[in-house]
Amino acid sequence: MEYEIPSKLKRLKESATLKAAEKARALRAKGVKVISLDVGEPDFPTPLPIIEEAYKALKEGYTHYGPSQGLPELRETLSDKVKSEKGIDVRPSSFIITPGSKQSIYYSLIALLEEGDEVLIPTPAWPSYMEMVKLVGGVPIEVKTNSSFLPSIDELEKYTTGRTKALIINYPNNPTGSVYDRGKLEELATFVKEKNLWVISDEIYEKLTYEGEFISFATLEGMDDRTITVNGFSKTYAMTGWRIGYAYGPEEVIKMMVKVQQHTATCVPAFVQKAAIAALTKCDDYVKEMVSEFKKRRDFIFEGFKKLGFKLEKPKGAFYLFPDVRGIYRDPPNFNDFLLDKAAVSVTPGAGFGVGYEPYVRVSYANSLENIREGLERIEKALSESSN
Ligand SMILES: Cc1ncc(COP(=O)(O)O)c(C=O)c1O
Repeated sequence: MEYEIPSKLKRLKESATLKAAEKARALRAKGVKVISLDVGEPDFPTPLPIIEEAYKALKEGYTHYGPSQGLPELRETLSDKVKSEKGIDVRPSSFIITPGSKQSIYYSLIALLEEGDEVLIPTPAWPSYMEMVKLVGGVPIEVKTNSSFLPSIDELEKYTTGRTKALIINYPNNPTGSVYDRGKLEELATFVKEKNLWVISDEIYEKLTYEGEFISFATLEGMDDRTITVNGFSKTYAMTGWRIGYAYGPEEVIKMMVKVQQHTATCVPAFVQKAAIAALTKCDDYVKEMVSEFKKRRDFIFEGFKKLGFKLEKPKGAFYLFPDVRGIYRDPPNFNDFLLDKAAVSVTPGAGFGVGYEPYVRVSYANSLENIREGLERIEKALSESSN
């Protein structure tokens, strides 16, 4: 039978990140030692208390369907944590536990958007936002940020129409590492209030903030009843493969998201949720250590790229750099191919992170200092041998 691709899927872009990773994998399969500076996950193992809790829960029989909204004991632990860390009261009934935070973002969009609704996305941005908005019938509106990768209200205003329904923000940011300070957040709060917009605040890199204070958007005055806060375990606790994340926000919206989960994923495996409680309650020291190691790497790789002559902002969080390749290499949009071919170093092309970012690359420092050092040496050598 002939397969007719539905139009909403025709608009979907292939993941640039996965495509670049696939090329690197093919090279590795030929026996080449590729230095991966393209990965989006911590290179640390999942902490042992989490693994032990999962094992215990499996033995205790947490192997069946659970409530779609998530185990009450995990939602209670999250509610306590949000209260003690952020000073806001979010009831356990206002949380949903999902298979990865990615799914929380997807469900939020399903819950908020009508067909044709527009969503403002400051770019550069994680590509899945744009694609998920399209998948649910919405229209992603990319809005370029300023030279420090911070959203400008004037630009946001310019792209706001009668169909604008929501704004997606993400800080510490993937791919730039920018973190919004209180002044910027207050400007955004005033803007969304004035335009009556929903906000999806993706705070998955919250704990990976190296400079300045991390301020959660929903803690700003009047923002809790229009904000869906998305967070997770993947980055903070090196749990990318466990597929668990969560969201909280106004209860009517969360209820709709639960309904969607009932009919799709059903629930996150109960033993994974039990393990997540151990992450929240037994792993603070581990997180501290991991963050301090990432900060060391950030300083090292930032200096390394600066010395090579790249124009770049010092990231304040997450584990990525987003250097501008113009002036360094003659064909910036193909710099990632050049690095893979000539230096066996894999980075992610900037094109996937929004229109206008083709001359950039995303460089991940979720790799050992030793490998980062070798990667920098290889890049230097490849550049010096090329005609640029
Ligand atoms: C900005 C951002 N949000 C969400 C996610 C999804 O994380 P997960 O679904 O593993 O919780 C990622 C993963 O790379 C990310 O970079």
